Amino acid sequence: MALDLTPFLSNNAKSMRRSAIRDLLNVANKPEIISFGGGFPNVLTFPVDDLKQIMAELMDEMPGKLLQYGSTEGSVALRKQIAKRYQKDGVNVGIENIIITTASQQALDLLSRVFLNPGDTVLCGLPSYLGALQAFWSYQGMPIGIKHDEEAEAVVSALCAIGKKPKFIYAIPDFQNPSGVTMSLERRKEILAVAKKYDILVIEDSPYKEIRFEGESQPTMYSLDPERVILLGTFSKTFVPGFRLGWVLASPEVIDRINVAKQSADLCTPIFSQEVAARYMEKDLYDKNLAKTIDMYRQKRDLMHECLTKYMPEGVTWTRPEGGLFLFVTLPEGYDSKELFEIAIKENVAFVIGEVFYCNGKGQNTFRLNFSYVSDEDMIEGVKRLGKATAQLLSK
Ligand SMILES: Cc1ncc(COP(=O)(O)O)c(C=O)c1O
Repeated sequence: MALDLTPFLSNNAKSMRRSAIRDLLNVANKPEIISFGGGFPNVLTFPVDDLKQIMAELMDEMPGKLLQYGSTEGSVALRKQIAKRYQKDGVNVGIENIIITTASQQALDLLSRVFLNPGDTVLCGLPSYLGALQAFWSYQGMPIGIKHDEEAEAVVSALCAIGKKPKFIYAIPDFQNPSGVTMSLERRKEILAVAKKYDILVIEDSPYKEIRFEGESQPTMYSLDPERVILLGTFSKTFVPGFRLGWVLASPEVIDRINVAKQSADLCTPIFSQEVAARYMEKDLYDKNLAKTIDMYRQKRDLMHECLTKYMPEGVTWTRPEGGLFLFVTLPEGYDSKELFEIAIKENVAFVIGEVFYCNGKGQNTFRLNFSYVSDEDMIEGVKRLGKATAQLLSK
């Protein structure tokens, strides 16, 4: 019989929560299922030939460096390239403001490790990215939800009144996962003003900002308050998730704390992928590839929108985000997307139920659809199946 681990588990381990998305996606793993579940980029956006060439080039030039341990803060060449991108937008940063992480998920984990004590509250969107909620729970943090149109000061002052002042505010201001909502400049300023007034840190999680199809780009929250805001960037959605490359942009003091936490987490992020990414950017290939990716995703967003209009029964609504990878769908009040999921799986189509993104246990009548990953052909067929499944649910 397997050893019962319960008496050995730490309190942190006991408060960890399994990803409902990963569990759902396991169900949706069969080849006949068209999945709108994961937040995966489209494989056709991966610049395979350019990367092959750069990898061969670097293996000739610097095999010893490429296959060696790297520094905890990460490749200087890569940090320079990342800093340059922010400098281009007028943000005054240098490599001392940047640490490379094993993609953004590690940054969320390290920040939770550095800042959260058991019971500490974190203000986050309703809905919000599940992986961030998981990181907060892992350190016994308590995510508290705020709707995108709710007054931030009212929520924060109510929490302060019961001795639960948030340790930080967690925001995904651009094309939020899962809602697709982008914060206006006024909202950004409102949140920063509240953070300043109540002395709270702000985490700006920013994987989608560069994937804008139309409309005007908003300034990062970091650029509006570089002392208080900790920005998380990643190449996972704009380049290749398999490299597992992200970064934290923050004051040198915050970077130093994260550095110490990272030392005990994984010593360093693989230097191989860092140097390849740096060379890719030095050759000015990154922006060219990204422009093509944005065109592809814009077209896919439009196609999904069109298909939903065509196949979804009346009463169902969805967002039309100006960027990012997701649409968020709302069923009429009283219907549960978990029930829809059961029907949809029988129709060989999958998505992520909205409830998993709501730290207050609500959102039953919502679900998330990814439009970046599947082929156009599968998208049309998948939404058709989804429309059929939804019609079955609504006619019950
Ligand atoms: C808002 C947000 N933050 C962070 C991540 C983690 O991405 P990665 O660890 O691949 O950088 C994701 C992935 O979907 C995300 O949507």
